[in-house]
Amino acid sequence: MLTEKVEKALNRQIRIEAESSQVYLSMASWAEVKGLEGIAQFMYKHSDEERMHMLKLVKYVNERGGHAIVTALDAPKTDFGSFQKMFKELLEHEIFVSQSINDLVHITLEEKDYATHNFLQWYVAEQIEEEALARTILDKINLIGNDKGGLYLFDRDVQQIAVESAAGDPGA
Ligand code: FEO
Repeated sequence: MLTEKVEKALNRQIRIEAESSQVYLSMASWAEVKGLEGIAQFMYKHSDEERMHMLKLVKYVNERGGHAIVTALDAPKTDFGSFQKMFKELLEHEIFVSQSINDLVHITLEEKDYATHNFLQWYVAEQIEEEALARTILDKINLIGNDKGGLYLFDRDVQQIAVESAAGDPGA
């Protein structure tokens, strides 16, 4: 059984993962209409991954005798200014998600819920990967600067990064 506090915290995380999926879907759509095809594919894939993160939590909460709650979500932005700014926002968003996972892990220890603590270790590892990936992408963007040829190659490569990350994802 989950304690009330753990169940509430897990439900909060369900909403955060769902909102993350919406944020990346909105980024994908923005990139697609701007003709940034590779970046759009990367973001569509990332959005799907967030939905998977959410579903894993939903199933876990229900399996442990709780009730996973599906709520209304905050609407994401629809305009991201530039793809450089968009990837900065992606990193900032992942740092926010990592903090939220850390808070959740802390609550499981306070509540002596070692099963949920163990379950959440997958998310801890996933956040390390996601933040590292976002930083790698930002490094590439900084290298390109305003070079048009570099942007063309980046748009092509980032699609590949998405494919590699999907194959290596133990939860996919
Ligand atoms: Fe589910 Fe990107 O954190």
